[in-house]
Amino acid sequence: MDGHVIVLGGLNFDLVIRGSRMPGKGESVFGKSFHTFPGGKGANQAVQLARLGVQTHMFGRVGNDIYGDQLIASLEEDGVTTDALLRDPELGTGKGWVFVDDDGDNYIIVVPEANMNWAQGELEALDELLRGSACLLCQLETPVPIVEACLVQAKDAGLMTVLNTAPATKLPADLFTHVDLLILNQTEAAFYVGRSVDGADQAQSAAEALLARGCGTVAITLGDQGAVAADGSGARHCAAFPVPAVDVTAAGDSFCAALVHALLAGADLSRALQFACASGALTVTRSGAQPSLPKLAEIRAFMESARARHVN
Ligand code: RIB
Repeated sequence: MDGHVIVLGGLNFDLVIRGSRMPGKGESVFGKSFHTFPGGKGANQAVQLARLGVQTHMFGRVGNDIYGDQLIASLEEDGVTTDALLRDPELGTGKGWVFVDDDGDNYIIVVPEANMNWAQGELEALDELLRGSACLLCQLETPVPIVEACLVQAKDAGLMTVLNTAPATKLPADLFTHVDLLILNQTEAAFYVGRSVDGADQAQSAAEALLARGCGTVAITLGDQGAVAADGSGARHCAAFPVPAVDVTAAGDSFCAALVHALLAGADLSRALQFACASGALTVTRSGAQPSLPKLAEIRAFMESARARHVN
């Protein structure tokens, strides 16, 4: 693979409580455990790319505080280049409040702080970053005008542009025309197409509707029903790899980064989709955001063993 990947996105300090259920209004309940983890969709995707051996640059904002220090340190431990990270002089580092239930499902509230405090002038650093890059990967934990400006600049510079629409946010209609690869989960897909997306058939029709808005390829994750991807040559479905669900946090981030890695490495869309599903599945088997992201060798071994058992 030639060139590095730039990830424009959010970095959050995750505060994670595990418990049997969320409290109702006015109610207090006991939780089972509390941990903190490095997180944020952008940072998680950057770490996943680095664990797959991709040279990765993180472009984002943290506060001038100990949380920012810890998030930068954890990116660097994984070999992500952080030279282009900005320190916000006013706002603190973003926080992710994550509740994980006994089924491994999560409920997340993000307080974005520095992640959302961009000015257009701060995109000057992007010119330098774009040189020698193969791909720009964004999510929506940074302001939409900043995401759009970066996508346009990257597309003009000939990079592959990828947008993961998490969390789903209203977007200008022509933004999709600057996106080579759009990645969504089924809830986000429903938000953009205005109807429910449940199962592979509805995901396929949602993917076709989103392709019609001008993106090159659309991938929609479906949790335990796998994922669908469609491009000009048609749609394909990959069934989920059956795994015990410990914590689904960052499974979508793992999927995005793995799909980008596989496509940049030259895999066709079906193989890339399968690789991304395997990476996401492994992430579900572990707790926390960044600690749960697998390395390349683990994914290969997992796929090999699934193949030997005739699963996927
Ligand atoms: O995708 C998981 C991430 O979403 C968490 O790490 C949390 O910080 C939120 O951004």
